[in-house]
Amino acid sequence: MDRGILVTIEGIDGAGKTTQSKAVVRWLKKNGYAAKYTSEPTSVGAGKLLGKPGFTASPALEALLFAADRMEHVRRVIEPGLKKGYVIVSDRYVHSSIAYQGTMLGDMDWVRTINKFVPKPDVAFLLDVEPRVALSRIKRPKSRFEKLELLEAVRNAYLDMVASGELILLDGTKSPSQVTEELLAKLKPFLPNPKCKGP
Ligand code: TYD
Repeated sequence: MDRGILVTIEGIDGAGKTTQSKAVVRWLKKNGYAAKYTSEPTSVGAGKLLGKPGFTASPALEALLFAADRMEHVRRVIEPGLKKGYVIVSDRYVHSSIAYQGTMLGDMDWVRTINKFVPKPDVAFLLDVEPRVALSRIKRPKSRFEKLELLEAVRNAYLDMVASGELILLDGTKSPSQVTEELLAKLKPFLPNPKCKGP
């Protein structure tokens, strides 16, 4: 059985990652791929703690908890899926930690170090929108990360990773269906042959 691939979708809060990740998984399934949507932070263990309303910790402890959550995510979901040949689409992954915790701590290298035990994505996308636009899309009460100044810095960190070739840029200001189209066009070269192409 061929190993699957890990695709990650990154971006600031309100960029539309969840909509796009799910649209890609729907397309993959329709086109004969075994595909799975997953997201971080997860809803168990350290991820559950991070997601609790009102939870606070120092940025360094938070970085460790996101990394711990990711290790469990890899062990429980990502690695078993890859072994079974799935295209795993993760709504946030390592680059979220580099962008958010790296920015908050002013130390990207340490954040990379504590995340070095998880597999690198086969392809990672940045869904880019201006923070002002992204924040205006968020209708529910804003979380501790959803502040204009922080998101400006996080976006710049993501854009640096585009410049270094780690992330592939997508224009998140287009309509949802246009964004999906751009994403699929840029993803296709990375896809293996579909496993179970229908009749
Ligand atoms: P997410 O669930 O994507 O946000 P939403 O509630 O909008 O769907 O992520 C929750 C927050 O966690 C988000 O503000 C970004 C932050 N985050 C980090 O700071 N570092 C990380 O490594 C991850 C995975 C998320």
